[in-house]
Amino acid sequence: MKNKEQQGKGDGKGAGSYLNLFFAQLDLLNFFGHALVFGIGLLIGITLTFFVKNFSFINFQIQQFSLPSNTLKPPPFSPISSNISLPIPDIKTKNESHCFEGLVLDSGKKNTSSSPQKDNQTIPSSNSTLVTKVVNFTRIGLSEFLKSPMAMHDMSDEELLWKASMVPMIHKLPFKQTPKVAFMFLTKGPVLLAPLWERFFKGNEGLYSIYVHSYPSSNETVPKNSVFHGRNIPSKEVRWGENSMIEAERRLLANALLDFSNQRFVLLSESCIPLFNFSTIYTYLMNSTKTFVEAYDLPGEVGRGRYRTQMRPQIRLSQWRKGSQWFQIDRFLALQTVSDYHYFPVFLKYCNPNCYSDEHYLPTFVSIKFWKRNSNRTLTWVDWAKGGAHPSRYYRNDVNNEFLNKLRFGTSCDYNGHTTNICHLFARKFTTHALDRLLRFAPKLMQFN
Ligand SMILES: *[C@@H]1O[C@H](CO)[C@@H](O)[C@H](O)[C@H]1NC(C)=O
Ligand SMILES: *[C@@H]1O[C@H](CO)[C@@H](O)[C@H](O)[C@H]1NC(C)=O
Ligand SMILES: *[C@@H]1O[C@H](CO)[C@@H](O)[C@H](O)[C@H]1NC(C)=O
Ligand SMILES: *[C@@H]1O[C@H](CO)[C@@H](O)[C@H](O)[C@H]1NC(C)=O
Ligand SMILES: *[C@@H]1O[C@H](CO)[C@@H](O)[C@H](O)[C@H]1NC(C)=O
Ligand SMILES: *[C@@H]1O[C@H](CO)[C@@H](O)[C@H](O)[C@H]1NC(C)=O
Ligand SMILES: *[C@@H]1O[C@H](CO)[C@@H](O)[C@H](O)[C@H]1NC(C)=O
Ligand SMILES: *[C@@H]1O[C@H](CO)[C@@H](O)[C@H](O)[C@H]1NC(C)=O
Ligand SMILES: *[C@@H]1O[C@H](CO)[C@@H](O)[C@H](O)[C@H]1NC(C)=O
Ligand SMILES: *[C@@H]1O[C@H](CO)[C@@H](O)[C@H](O)[C@H]1NC(C)=O
Repeated sequence: MKNKEQQGKGDGKGAGSYLNLFFAQLDLLNFFGHALVFGIGLLIGITLTFFVKNFSFINFQIQQFSLPSNTLKPPPFSPISSNISLPIPDIKTKNESHCFEGLVLDSGKKNTSSSPQKDNQTIPSSNSTLVTKVVNFTRIGLSEFLKSPMAMHDMSDEELLWKASMVPMIHKLPFKQTPKVAFMFLTKGPVLLAPLWERFFKGNEGLYSIYVHSYPSSNETVPKNSVFHGRNIPSKEVRWGENSMIEAERRLLANALLDFSNQRFVLLSESCIPLFNFSTIYTYLMNSTKTFVEAYDLPGEVGRGRYRTQMRPQIRLSQWRKGSQWFQIDRFLALQTVSDYHYFPVFLKYCNPNCYSDEHYLPTFVSIKFWKRNSNRTLTWVDWAKGGAHPSRYYRNDVNNEFLNKLRFGTSCDYNGHTTNICHLFARKFTTHALDRLLRFAPKLMQFN
């Protein structure tokens, strides 16, 4: 019995263990099945995560749609955009948005000759009746940008030179430009021979601009009807033969460069006079294929003797040049001069004292980099024949037609590949004592207007 029981038990036991085994196998199968499902799920999960992370806008959409249904109406405008005063496209303001379109189109119309102005726009509305709408906007045309700036400003030298060094990369002009000559007067005080220059400029408005660098910025009263009125630029003290002279020249060039219509740049002193009428000088300068910076190599104390060996390697002795400070250059060379931060610092550091950078900086700089387009001569006549540190001065009795004609036609030189006897357009040094007779002879001789 016991045995039977045992057997029975054993049987029962045997059946139980069989079942156990069966269930265990089933469990194992289930386990693998679950594991498989879990694995696949995990894979999909990881893939989705990457996908969603890469495209955040999808993330955004998912968030949007997962919001409770009562927020499904269009999301409110953010406080930032709701305060923008532009018409928000909204069913009620549909006509306004039409008007707005018309406005945008209109302001996009380019008219370079029109100056900024406030316009009352008359805009045809969509239902084709005219609706007059007072629209308050200022046209920003190119004309505002091209306007000749005031001579006086409050820029520092550094700011001024940087601004002046800007150059358009597109060379074809989208507007008509009348090129101007910038007459730049570097003076100690007032332009002494101003009455003669007034006669010279008369009737040629729009073809020239004037800049005066004088220190101390003498507030001598320039009459309102004078061509020199309001033409003083912010100036600093200048010492003869020192680098401050070059700084003043660069200051004048930079101010003149701010006016895009200035294409030629002439440096003059208070003792300079014109030798021809405006139209002759204008054409001569404009038509020239060369720039006029006097430059020559001069052995001896007052030439090569002023070279400093510390200027190497930027400037070598063989590159050292001398020449008159009174130049006539074009816009390209003017831009290069105000932008020169390679050679000028060498002069600032080593060309002093008794080095006279005003006679060496520009001739040397131009001869190193831009000699191809330079004539190596100046258009300003001067007489050094008497010797000494200063050229001859001219007083009342020196001025007569014969003398003036000698300056006008007395030499021969090259102009655009041809020999000419018009080699000087300006002359120095004339004193105020000569003014009276200059005014008497010059206009008739030179055929001023
Ligand atoms: C709009 O701007 C005004 C002042 O500029 C401010 O008081 C107001 O709270 C702004 N409205 C919104 C919706 O931000
Ligand atoms: C807007 O234009 C519709 C026709 O496009 C016109 O019926 C409606 O009167 C206009 N509303 C206003 C305010 O001008
Ligand atoms: C530009 O405006 C001026 C005056 O404001 C006008 O004389 C000229 O005809 C206009 N040019 C064009 C192309 O609209
Ligand atoms: C433009 O509108 C202003 C103010 O509404 C008005 O004084 C002026 O006369 C208007 N100008 C023209 C040309 O209609
Ligand atoms: C056009 O607009 C005017 C003024 O808002 C309105 O009186 C007129 O009914 C509109 N015409 C049409 C065809 O919608
Ligand atoms: C136009 O703008 C000026 C200032 O910008 C303002 O004083 C004037 O009231 C405005 N006029 C209109 C009609 O919006
Ligand atoms: C220059 O002008 C200032 C103010 O405009 C005046 O105070 C000063 O006295 C003037 N100097 C000369 C030399 O006229
Ligand atoms: C300027 O002088 C030249 C001769 O030197 C003359 O032919 C020309 O007509 C003069 N110009 C004017 C505008 O008088
Ligand atoms: C200057 O050049 C223009 C155009 O090339 C020409 O018409 C004019 O005669 C020239 N003037 C002189 C003085 O060479
Ligand atoms: C100007 O001088 C340079 C040397 O500094 C020379 O190479 C050039 O040919 C000269 N130009 C003219 C036009 O004489």
